[in-house]
Amino acid sequence: MAKKAGQLGAVTGSDADTLMAAAWLHDVGYAAALAEEGFHPLDGARWLRRIGYDPRVTARVAHHSCAAIEAELRGLADELLAEFPWEESAVSDALRYFDLTTGPEGERMTVDGAAGGDQIAVRATDLNRWFDDVRAAAGHALASLA
Ligand SMILES: [Fe+2]
Repeated sequence: MAKKAGQLGAVTGSDADTLMAAAWLHDVGYAAALAEEGFHPLDGARWLRRIGYDPRVTARVAHHSCAAIEAELRGLADELLAEFPWEESAVSDALRYFDLTTGPEGERMTVDGAAGGDQIAVRATDLNRWFDDVRAAAGHALASLA
């Protein structure tokens, strides 16, 4: 995913640096040592904040791939939005697009493939309980790219 982010010409300057950092770090919250809520966007962003990482990158990690929708379903939306600002920007759009079109081994996927559930189903193996929530969030993310 970070490799794709480096190839995007539409995001330049400090935005490109933010995108690249967020692409590398977006799933850091899956690390067992960082688990607090069991919701990896929030767990990862809180850890980045604790170590003093750039606030904009930290917020992009918190909100990657429409995390607010899943946060709402988990009862964590107020915390997420209070702690980390949402940003409507090319950086957010690019991060969402790259996340949804990159498989778990870094393989390239089409948006149609992700919409068909391949990407979502693979990720949901770790989140069986939250499968419907992830699908709803991903469906919203994909619709926003149309
Ligand atoms: Fe993620």
